[in-house]
Amino acid sequence: MTTKPPSKFYQPLAIGAPSPYRELPVRLERMIHFFPPHVEKMRAKIPEMISQVDVLLGNLEDAIPADQKEAARKGFIKAAMENDFGQTGLWTRVNCLNSPWFLDDLTEIVAAAGNKVDVIMLPKVEGPWDIHYLDQLLAQLEARNGVKRQILIHAILETALGVANVEAIAAASPRMHGMSLGPADLAASRGMKTTRVGGGHPSYGVLEDPKADGGARTLFQQDLWHYTVAKMVDACQSQGIKAFYGPFGDFADSPACEAQFRNAFLLGCLGAWSLHPSQIEIAKRVFSPDAGEVIFAKKILDAMPDGTGAVMIDGKMQDDATWKQAKVIVDLAKLVASKDPVLAQAYGL
Ligand code: GLV
Ligand code: MG
Repeated sequence: MTTKPPSKFYQPLAIGAPSPYRELPVRLERMIHFFPPHVEKMRAKIPEMISQVDVLLGNLEDAIPADQKEAARKGFIKAAMENDFGQTGLWTRVNCLNSPWFLDDLTEIVAAAGNKVDVIMLPKVEGPWDIHYLDQLLAQLEARNGVKRQILIHAILETALGVANVEAIAAASPRMHGMSLGPADLAASRGMKTTRVGGGHPSYGVLEDPKADGGARTLFQQDLWHYTVAKMVDACQSQGIKAFYGPFGDFADSPACEAQFRNAFLLGCLGAWSLHPSQIEIAKRVFSPDAGEVIFAKKILDAMPDGTGAVMIDGKMQDDATWKQAKVIVDLAKLVASKDPVLAQAYGL
């Protein structure tokens, strides 16, 4: 395959467009909180939401009725211009590339609010070609509209073809911020037999061995999303970009949402979507490292100041590799602590 030479990779794709980031900006993004921008009542809550979430995302795609698409786009622009988002990220999920709305979503939003939007979330990404197109278009629009810093791209992994091409998507451009799993569209695209948005399924499991007494056997439910989340994390982390779990549709089942988010966190994801206010707290709890784990990780770093050698702590062997594991947790804890004084204290940071 012909690839772009290294010297070209970081060149802006349009004259006058901002330079691509060499490294992603470091930001805490535990929850990407969705709001429907055409609903005035929701827009009115934005000033209050800004202090409660890490990322606010104006949704223009699925869940917005076709006859409200333009109102959603205009509502997003209004929200972007009327609020100061401070350290809170401002994202939008635009309509997909083959929809009748995508081009106006991009051109109008970058023209009016290009200096306020951090990330464009692109749904239904199938291969690197989708990213190349948006990358080029964004560069042209940034140049035309005097945008000062690059707007990043976040892909939704939600088609079978996208999963097949996930590594190429992650590597497609220095504009890539990361990826989210979209379990609803992905289930449909793959022909999975579930109507749920994320979460497990009672029939997907492993049956325990027959009992000697012929007694009832338990079916241990398995995680339908394990394979895809793990594949996505490897694709993202190997390119230095971020992986996220997406939506959890059963708002009434908070424990199941928490379990799904936690699996994603343990496997390497940095956040998840919140589609309901109750999911904000769940994401905050799950994607902020556990205080006990942080304190133990700090002990490892303190015991091995240069990160080499081997020591025993609380009966557990530590070496250069566990030092790196500990650093992942302490680095994340520092980022959380910079925003959350209560957790900063719990972490002793
Ligand atoms: C999200 O967009 C999904 O399809 O799950
Ligand atoms: Mg979707």
